Amino acid sequence: MKISKRTENFSYAIRDVLAVATEVEAQGHEIIKLNIGDPIKYGFKTPELLTTNLKYAEQENYNYYSNSQGLPEYREAVAAYENEKHGVNVTADRVVATAGVSEGIQMTFMAFTNPGDNVVIPGIHYPSYSGNATIFDTNIRYYKTVVQDNFYPDPDHIRSLMDDNTKLIFLNSPNNPTGSVYPEKIIKEIIDIVGEYDACIISDETYDGLILDEGLKHIATAKIAKDVPVIAYNGFSKVFLAPGWRLGYTYLHDPENKVEGPWEGLNKLTRIRLCASTPLQKAGAEALKQDQGSYLSETIQMLRDRRDLMYKRLIEMEGITVFKPEAAFYIFPMISMDQFKWKDDKEFVFDYLRKKHVLTVFGSGFGPFGENGFRMVYLPSLEEIDSAMDKLEDLLNENRI
Ligand SMILES: Cc1ncc(COP(=O)(O)O)c(C=O)c1O
Repeated sequence: MKISKRTENFSYAIRDVLAVATEVEAQGHEIIKLNIGDPIKYGFKTPELLTTNLKYAEQENYNYYSNSQGLPEYREAVAAYENEKHGVNVTADRVVATAGVSEGIQMTFMAFTNPGDNVVIPGIHYPSYSGNATIFDTNIRYYKTVVQDNFYPDPDHIRSLMDDNTKLIFLNSPNNPTGSVYPEKIIKEIIDIVGEYDACIISDETYDGLILDEGLKHIATAKIAKDVPVIAYNGFSKVFLAPGWRLGYTYLHDPENKVEGPWEGLNKLTRIRLCASTPLQKAGAEALKQDQGSYLSETIQMLRDRRDLMYKRLIEMEGITVFKPEAAFYIFPMISMDQFKWKDDKEFVFDYLRKKHVLTVFGSGFGPFGENGFRMVYLPSLEEIDSAMDKLEDLLNENRI
């Protein structure tokens, strides 16, 4: 049997590099893994705020199928949390519980697009956006995000990509893989542009609580969107350090009911997978209502130390241009390829892996503007980061033209 047309052209860079890593490991080498955005794999602990509430949910027998849209108390807790934390105005009936943000992204494509529709995506982006766009046969238009502009979106470029066939415009702040936090002014400009079309903004706010620098603030798109429809995503994978829980949510901001049809479609779609995990929703609801304690500030301090070290090492390397990430746990250095022997970012990443046993992800896997870049996570210990940077420095020096 042949592979389906839908999956034939689909690839996922973050996980694709693993095949070569397995080969290198099989040769007996220990690899420093800077490839995957999972804090638990690097020794970070899911806070008791969540684990205690999960035990409670099980004791209370929250083990049944919940409503497909989500447990009412989960949707209410999400709405209250988002409203209080980000000053949005969402109601529980416009919240859907999902198996991670990932499921929300997929459902959005299914409910909001038809084959041949246009979707506008950051030029360097979390690959699920382009992966889903490919699976659902939409045309991708990438907007400019470059290191010289701190990887912030370019509203003028977005304007030039919009047309009457455009359905979705993706924003992701704080951003994976660049670590940028979009300034409010830029988000506002984009909202105004999208407002001229029959289109919807998709705002992925997965890293909202992981801003590393004083004075910077996460702006929820829905807070400032006025009458422009916004679908926003968040969940428990990153800020709550529970990626394996697979718990997230999607909410709608649409005061003028412009996307009522697709939103109804999205809600209908939830029925096909019966429901998101009920005990996790219960635990998540309780956690959102309680004080977060000190785990988050401690996590941020640890991330800041690691970010500072990796950035400090990288800016000293000739042939590397790097933006200091403002949030999350990723850094996206760009290589001046004309100074080195490598043909492209892919060749560089596989060389770094095979010769120095450090696993990173090639930048072109995150979109066309990621060419000649690569992504690293700064979740490992300071010692491991330092060692990976020593190896990078050596590799660069060994390959200069
Ligand atoms: C920007 C972004 N959105 C969504 C996801 C997926 O998150 P989840 O674990 O909630 O499915 C990730 C995971 O890395 C991400 O970086």
